[in-house]
Amino acid sequence: MTGKQALLRLICVALAAQLLASPVQAAAGPDATVDPHMLFEARCQRCHGHAGEFAREHLFLGDSNVLGKRTGGGLARFLKRHQGGVTEHEMTALFDAFQRQLAYGPLFQERCRACHLSARDLAKHQLILTDNGLIGRYSGKQMAVFLERHGTFGDEEAEQLYGMLFWHRQIIEAAQHDG
Ligand code: HEC
Ligand code: HEC
Repeated sequence: MTGKQALLRLICVALAAQLLASPVQAAAGPDATVDPHMLFEARCQRCHGHAGEFAREHLFLGDSNVLGKRTGGGLARFLKRHQGGVTEHEMTALFDAFQRQLAYGPLFQERCRACHLSARDLAKHQLILTDNGLIGRYSGKQMAVFLERHGTFGDEEAEQLYGMLFWHRQIIEAAQHDG
């Protein structure tokens, strides 16, 4: 399988997961919803910089999972012990985030970064989730429609970016509800 096929398959899997639309969650407790972005900022960023850039520099997409450029498929084992280690939930959330960064991140860099800092930032400040999906917090515009004509080329790109923004917003809201 070529890298491109692997990427396409991953995107399909990611979109299917998107339909099921559940952020990483556990029963209860302090670990209930792991926000991988906040986790990375709090515990990894001081050494590794921003998550997206870190992922692109040090990780890559294998056939069905994220692999480390140095550690290969032993990434999970490595992370369990690295710098105090991460729990199972944190690991799942981190892998999910890395996978999406690797799959969709380059598209954001290419099409949106000139004007917007990051997808996370857009999701946090400009968007909200409603029964109608993702809409502009202040404009009320439906993002599924808006993105088809805003900075993207073709439906596929618009769908991928919608999926990425949706995911970010979902995690942000889930983490807020926990507090
Ligand atoms: C105190 C600095 C420091 C912190 C904090 C830190 N790391 Fe690291 N990390 C390193 C160094 C140095 C290396 C390379 C040496 C090694 O392999 O141990 C590394 C390597 C890695 C690799 C290996 C990548 C590869 O090429 O296979 C991953 C993945 C990783 N770190 C993820 C994380 C995550 C996730 C966190 C937060 C939970 C984290 N690191 C926190 C310093 C740090
Ligand atoms: C040339 C600059 C530029 C580029 C490139 C760009 N945007 Fe924007 N974006 C803007 C401006 C200006 C606004 C605010 C005005 C508006 O709503 O059109 C905006 C607004 C938005 C909003 C909020 C919409 C709302 O109704 O609240 C989202 C979400 C967004 N952009 C996403 C993206 C994404 C995703 C990409 C990449 C495909 C992208 N933008 C590319 C300039 C840009």
